[in-house]
Amino acid sequence: MKKVIDPWSSINVENYGRLMKEFGISPFSNIMSKVKNPSSYMRRGIIFGHLGFDVVLDAINNGQKFVMLTGLMPSGKMHLGHKLVIDQMLYYQNLGAECFITVADIESYLTRNISLKEARSTAIEEYLINYIALGLKPKNCYVYFQSDWKQSYNNLSKFIAREITFNEINAIYGEINPSKIISALTQVADILHPELNEFGGPRPVVVPVGIDQHPHLLLSRDVAARMKKEFNFISPAATYHRFMPGLQSVNTKMSSSKPESYIALTDDEKTVESKIKKYAFSGGRDTVEEHKKKGGNPEIDVSYQWLTFLEEDDKKLEKIYNDYKTGRLLSGELKQILIDKLNSFLREHQKKREKARKEVDKFIYK
Ligand code: TRP
Repeated sequence: MKKVIDPWSSINVENYGRLMKEFGISPFSNIMSKVKNPSSYMRRGIIFGHLGFDVVLDAINNGQKFVMLTGLMPSGKMHLGHKLVIDQMLYYQNLGAECFITVADIESYLTRNISLKEARSTAIEEYLINYIALGLKPKNCYVYFQSDWKQSYNNLSKFIAREITFNEINAIYGEINPSKIISALTQVADILHPELNEFGGPRPVVVPVGIDQHPHLLLSRDVAARMKKEFNFISPAATYHRFMPGLQSVNTKMSSSKPESYIALTDDEKTVESKIKKYAFSGGRDTVEEHKKKGGNPEIDVSYQWLTFLEEDDKKLEKIYNDYKTGRLLSGELKQILIDKLNSFLREHQKKREKARKEVDKFIYK
């Protein structure tokens, strides 16, 4: 049987190379030379793959209009893993993208049993306030709720149904129930609707996602091609990022349902310190002596791996890597670097959150 990715369950990826081959994703390294100002995520291969990103790059490089669209699932707490998407939103917003941010409240209602009311308050308290505090600007930025957006978007989410068959749904998602089918069609409408005339017309769109969302992007690109005659859609592009690992091991994912796996953006200093000390899996040796002699293993060390997401300065990161690998830097010291980095970031961030709370209304469109 052909393998499928289930966007509604949590997946762990061990081999990204194999995954890309299996699912027809192009390596991001193939187009790196065309990226003028790559982000640290791009430089470090954290963004590892793409679909059709060339079109977006051309628009960026030629100063033409383009769109960044992404969505958030309003459930659970926002943690550091979610920061990855925001950093990418900010990157594209700085390059002049129009930003569309979907609050997937219909999806959370259908697939997670969350009421629209609860979804709304989680989206604002846990997500939007953090986005704004992290630097999202209201100019050319539209945050909308799936349950409360323009009629042309609603119509599109239904028109899409005509373009697809059960066989195709099964081939992309496996066997899924009506709630998931509606969620999928709604997401395709999310991804395609910025190209409707009402929202600015056809132009390149990039959707930065984790690999779990890949099926939705495949479907969106198929549907875009089929609706081209009527709507003149340019196929939406995707980029794929690695997940930030959970504290327990580099092979797990941070998960909102496992507080010991993540640091939340609202965690205080003591919590950060104790979580890292207690849970962050170490690639160090059993004794200091042995560590100094043989060195640590940054590949499996969660503290180091987190720093690859958090430390923007390539030189600093390289020094930490070398010092750890050669045993000059001990595990406890490495953890302390991470704790300090996190706490200074969170201290600033939490101050900004209070200001951000007052600005939420500037972002939500009707
Ligand atoms: N399904 C996404 C999630 O589970 C949320 C989402 C809805 C989304 N619409 C989107 C993501 C459009 C990217 C683009 O997180």
